[in-house]
Amino acid sequence: MLYIAAVLGAGCAILMQPPRAGRRVPREGMPREPWRPREPVRMTLRGPLADMLPQSGIAELAGSLAHELNQPLTAITSNAHAAREFLAASEFNKELLKEIVDDMVDDASRASDIVRGVRALVLGEAPRMVPFNVADVVEQALDLARANATARCVAIERDIPEALPRAVGDPVEIRLVLLNLLVNALDAVASGRSSHDRRITVRARALDHEVRMAVQDNGAGVAADDLDKIFRPFYSSKPKGMGVGLSLSRALMERNGGHIQAIRNSGGGMTFECVLPQEALTLCHRTTGTAVFQWR
Ligand SMILES: Nc1ncnc2c1ncn2[C@@H]1O[C@H](COP(=O)(O)OP(=O)(O)OP(=O)(O)O)[C@@H](O)[C@H]1O
Ligand SMILES: [Mg+2]
Repeated sequence: MLYIAAVLGAGCAILMQPPRAGRRVPREGMPREPWRPREPVRMTLRGPLADMLPQSGIAELAGSLAHELNQPLTAITSNAHAAREFLAASEFNKELLKEIVDDMVDDASRASDIVRGVRALVLGEAPRMVPFNVADVVEQALDLARANATARCVAIERDIPEALPRAVGDPVEIRLVLLNLLVNALDAVASGRSSHDRRITVRARALDHEVRMAVQDNGAGVAADDLDKIFRPFYSSKPKGMGVGLSLSRALMERNGGHIQAIRNSGGGMTFECVLPQEALTLCHRTTGTAVFQWR
């Protein structure tokens, strides 16, 4: 299990930075089945809980928590097993063990952030709005998606200008949104493209008084008729999907004073664009208001 991401990644065209030292277990689910042509998409609104939604947000809350907590808890469990194997050996590398434990602490702290975020969402508490560096938050989200991308031989490119003004929002919540979009993009390219042709690009641009972040993929995309459905809670086309990621992401973006939209790329695949307010213009030293930027 150790170094599994690096081993699985051998031979892949990975444009991302190499996995960070000390990451020993996959951060996301790592499906290993070979690529096969995409089956026709069946869109369904799932389960009895979905019927409750008009009356209550409880189902949505439970789904959101289960969805978001699954990833850090899986990582903690894997790391705990790895640590136990280390300790069972007659000799072990203390430094590596410390890195595993550090990872567990990070993931536990992230799980606690998730609980805090969902709790705040439900109680209607205001998010912790601060100016933040978009490139840093994108990097953190990429870091969490890296093992998943490596396992599926997906190249992820970044296109973020150095002089990008800071956005205003809760960086923990925005990281969660970006991670959801990345995981969806990874699912889309892994099921829609052969392993040598899977591309995801994460972009950020300043435009007017906003900062726009986009996750673009070359997967099979969403049919035009289904575009209005994909943000509905519990709406999923995936055999094991909960249909929670996008509805939660939209709620998080809106409570942060922003919004999210899905765009069908003209050349195939999808772009999900998240827009946040920019830090006050007087603080961010913008030199021009004429930036021209197109996601499509
Ligand atoms: N990048 C994408 N490309 C193609 N379809 C997408 C993409 N992102 C989302 N979708 C569609 O939108 C649906 C809803 O996405 P959402 O993230 O809410 O749920 P999910 O990914 O199915 O399950 P989960 O709750 O685990 O996130 C997906 O099932 C898929 O059909
Ligand atoms: Mg999803």
